[in-house]
Amino acid sequence: MKGGTPLVGEVTISGAKNAALGIIAAAIMTDEDVRLENIPDVNDINVMLDAIQGIGVTVDRVDPHTVVINGSNIFKATVDSAYIDKIRAGYYLLGALLGKYRHAEVAMPGGCAIGKRPIDQHIKGFRAMNADVDLDGGRVVVDAKDLIGGHIYLDMVSVGATINIMLAAALASGVTTIENAAKEPHVVDIANMLNAMGARIMGAGTDVIRITGVERLHGCEYTVIPDQIEAGTFMFAAAVTHGDIILNSVIPKHLESISSKLREMGCEVTELDDSVRVNGKASLRSCDVKTLPYPGFPTDMQPQICVGLSLASGSSVVTESIFENRFKYVDEVLKMGANIRVEGNVAFINGVESLKGASMKAPDLRAGAALVLAGLAANGFSTVGSIEYILRGYEHLERKLQELGAVIALVDTDEAAEAFKKEHSA
Ligand code: UD1
Repeated sequence: MKGGTPLVGEVTISGAKNAALGIIAAAIMTDEDVRLENIPDVNDINVMLDAIQGIGVTVDRVDPHTVVINGSNIFKATVDSAYIDKIRAGYYLLGALLGKYRHAEVAMPGGCAIGKRPIDQHIKGFRAMNADVDLDGGRVVVDAKDLIGGHIYLDMVSVGATINIMLAAALASGVTTIENAAKEPHVVDIANMLNAMGARIMGAGTDVIRITGVERLHGCEYTVIPDQIEAGTFMFAAAVTHGDIILNSVIPKHLESISSKLREMGCEVTELDDSVRVNGKASLRSCDVKTLPYPGFPTDMQPQICVGLSLASGSSVVTESIFENRFKYVDEVLKMGANIRVEGNVAFINGVESLKGASMKAPDLRAGAALVLAGLAANGFSTVGSIEYILRGYEHLERKLQELGAVIALVDTDEAAEAFKKEHSA
């Protein structure tokens, strides 16, 4: 990519990847058809759909964003898709299959290497519902003769554990209570979808969720919410390139913590019914930020705000409080001339006037997107390698950026990268 062009125009935000992954798992819990709309066309979703097809689920991809799922022909509760251990959300199949069949075996979850990411809270939840859990050679095996509602207090706010327990509890007998539950928009979306299937879940979006188990779930049609993090990434694209972007198909309420930080940094953020406009024409100002569970500032936006703050006047302190190893990308931004010092889970940033283009490597999904933002803000050419991480979670990122005026292309050889440079050297 060649940096320095302010991004201007409109972009449509795709469906939320992390909501869709949980919703796809929920969809296999009934024997009836479930039609899902606004599914993002990204690799993590494809891995999840492949995985459920591998156990007998019928998946009809009506179009890139619509899928009809039928779980009536599931012939085993052992998920051994070759890739399921690469994605985090594979673990939702544990909760879904445990609820439906009282048995599940799924590879230990993978996902981005941003910390240890244990699943002890998921296990604690299943055990509280009377299930036996075994960790057997890289697999998680859960079994329950009788799956019985339980009372679970999560030791830390975990999105994954909240959703997984909700899935299993939807078909358990009796009432399950999750205290200290995660309140993220996708927790609410998955609860809404399960309720559309006949589940009885109350309180999603607060820190106490109560699930009254039902005997069976039925089919439904459901539209996934917009992706809060994709939206936030484009909002920062406007900020760092001093552009002016209207994001369509968003829920502004879900973006409040991001909008409020951008305003502190000097951007103009206007919220409309289902769109948000970010005008980043003014120069950026420093601010401090700490990642927190929703409604706090999302950890999945931490790399993007660090890139923004590295171009803001003054010094900023960014504290990562969710994952212990989420600053690996900083070395890449340092190559561009940023002034960032990381101590443990805190980044101290002194803003610089400009960044210079560099050749970088994406260490994980969100950091990869942040490096693209850095490249678009920088002077000269940049390349970001290992983009398979970015493709896991962003739908046609380069195409959406091109439509906003970005000089960017997806290339798969060094020669193609050189040709791109030649073409765009003025
Ligand atoms: C999900 C998102 C991820 C996001 C994260 C936090 C998906 C597929 N991934 O990840 O993009 O960054 O939420 O918003 O939706 N923890 C434990 N034990 C557990 C579970 C979690 O110690 O059993 C810890 C984690 O290591 C982490 C914190 O709790 O430090 C929060 O993790 P959690 O909310 O569970 O994140 P994920 O569901 O893995």
